Amino acid sequence: MSSVRKPLVIGNWKMNGLVAASGALTRELGETLRTPEMCEVVLCPPFTALQQVGQLLTGLKIRLGAQNGFPADKGAFTGEVSMAMLRDIGCDYVLVGHSERRQHLSEGDGFVARKVVAAVSHDLTPVLCVGESGEVRAAGESESFVLGQVERGLSMLPVGASFVLAYEPVWAIGTGLAATARDANAMLAAVREWLCEKRGIPRDTFRLLYGGSVGPENIADFTAQNEIDGALVGGASLNAQAFAAVVLGAARGYLCTNK
Ligand code: PGA
Repeated sequence: MSSVRKPLVIGNWKMNGLVAASGALTRELGETLRTPEMCEVVLCPPFTALQQVGQLLTGLKIRLGAQNGFPADKGAFTGEVSMAMLRDIGCDYVLVGHSERRQHLSEGDGFVARKVVAAVSHDLTPVLCVGESGEVRAAGESESFVLGQVERGLSMLPVGASFVLAYEPVWAIGTGLAATARDANAMLAAVREWLCEKRGIPRDTFRLLYGGSVGPENIADFTAQNEIDGALVGGASLNAQAFAAVVLGAARGYLCTNK
């Protein structure tokens, strides 16, 4: 099977940006990132801006993603947005199991696993987010914790379905304290190995990202690692110049490898 490991940079705007500001940021990015040929780029704005950002991306090589989706197609789920609705509005990707949702909304692995399946069944690529807390790290249990999240989160993934996995240590998100590229690579090497060995998924048919305080200054270090195919970017994705520099850096780091 051929490799899908073209570099991927996903901007996660989180709960930031009214409609006007989201439009302005998208326009500025469209101008700054004219030909992100080397790198696939995805924007994940808040739900309220998805439609507008999607329209502004028409004709650009930047794809649309959502930050969350619910694992039922329709019905009495007040306040939720289904994967079918996300597909309908033009999304190609959806983040699933982000640590902020696990923490603030008590989302567990079983619920996350159902979201993965729902996304796939609506032709969306799920981006499963995993990562250990500072306490788990201090206890020296990061790898077993992360592999457990991977196992449970992808437990219902249909054979052959596309997916992306983002390793985002909780202690590195929004703190300015990124993991070292070596440590992130070691974790993602363990994840890739596990998916190949235990799930029989061919090695180059899925992408593994790092996330947590990624910016223009460190992105190339991450993508220069053999197991890291790109990044999930929070804070730096809210500034067009910084995000464009991250995309360029991702491509530059990638060129140092033979993935
Ligand atoms: P950060 O967020 O880049 O601001 O650390 C990353 C994320 O939460 O996806």
